Amino acid sequence: MKAIEVRELRKSYPKKIPLPFRKVQWVEAVRGISFEVRRGELFGLLGPNGAGKTTTIKMLTTLLEPSGGTAAVLGHDIRRDAREIRKRINLVAEGERTLYWRLSAYENLKYFARIYYVPKSEEKERIEGLLKLVGLWERRDDLIMNYSRGMKQRLAIAKALINDPEVLFLDEPTLGLDVQSALFVREFIRKLVDEQKKTVLLTTHYLGEAEELCDRIAIIDHGRIIALDTPEGLKRLVKGEDAVEIKVRDFPAEKLEKFPWKLAVVKENTERGTVTLRGQVDEDDLPKVVELLVKSGSRILSVEQKEPTLEDVFIKLTGRD
Ligand SMILES: Nc1ncnc2c1ncn2[C@@H]1O[C@H](COP(=O)(O)OP(=O)(O)OP(=O)(O)O)[C@@H](O)[C@H]1O
Ligand SMILES: [Mg+2]
Repeated sequence: MKAIEVRELRKSYPKKIPLPFRKVQWVEAVRGISFEVRRGELFGLLGPNGAGKTTTIKMLTTLLEPSGGTAAVLGHDIRRDAREIRKRINLVAEGERTLYWRLSAYENLKYFARIYYVPKSEEKERIEGLLKLVGLWERRDDLIMNYSRGMKQRLAIAKALINDPEVLFLDEPTLGLDVQSALFVREFIRKLVDEQKKTVLLTTHYLGEAEELCDRIAIIDHGRIIALDTPEGLKRLVKGEDAVEIKVRDFPAEKLEKFPWKLAVVKENTERGTVTLRGQVDEDDLPKVVELLVKSGSRILSVEQKEPTLEDVFIKLTGRD
């Protein structure tokens, strides 16, 4: 049995339009996606803002009714067996706000342990184990309102492990964290899969994170899966085609769309007025690209060849950064 099986899953939201326009419009957030996640796999949904990642996670965690298609988690249908699924999974939602700020870390976990009917005899041990696991044991009696953002996120993950879930859903687990906290969270997630044999489905819009962390990645864009493979497999899509990074000044961004090469802006330094463009450009074409950039009024600061990354896969598939 697969941990997660998704078939042609869809979701449309009614779009709120101000009166007096009564006609209902629909936003197709998820447009018929299919994929499977194996047990013990760390699976990533990678996509830009509004791609449909959160909507997908909400449907799979039984928080949102799909508009069409089917999905099963641990063999249970998300529509019919929501209760059974909820016992055996857990979720760290996007920008998790379900911790109680006036309670300590310990009290928070105790509260959620009771909600999940963790046996009283195991409660103490489980909470202590989790707090130690996320490195918050020393701070267990501090109120959450005194926690840093990174500490709150670690506690949110500990909270999501309170029912010892078989499948853990993480929506943008490192969003807004500082570099060190993000590193801790990423290493922690990998360990959950490697050492505790959990199945994890996470969403991210950081290509580097997906590449470093995930066993397999589905790239999702405008509600559709446009590629699904291992990080290596995805990179093979752009193998043999070197990536080029061109740093320019005075770049007229509006002209980019008309370029015959798929280049995307990957860095922008507004203070210095510089922009770094990246894309696959054949060696023979490189002088032409440079010429075009110069003609469009840009000043070339540097041209560098790079190893292809997942970013190039995304640019190649979508023509966007
Ligand atoms: N409650 C809602 N009502 C109406 N439209 C919604 C609602 N929630 C999401 N949408 C729309 O559905 C689409 C997908 O949104 P979703 O939140 O799933 O994207 P996402 O991939 O999680 O994006 P992000 O990276 O910004 O979190 C977007 O176009 C969004 O505007
Ligand atoms: Mg989201």
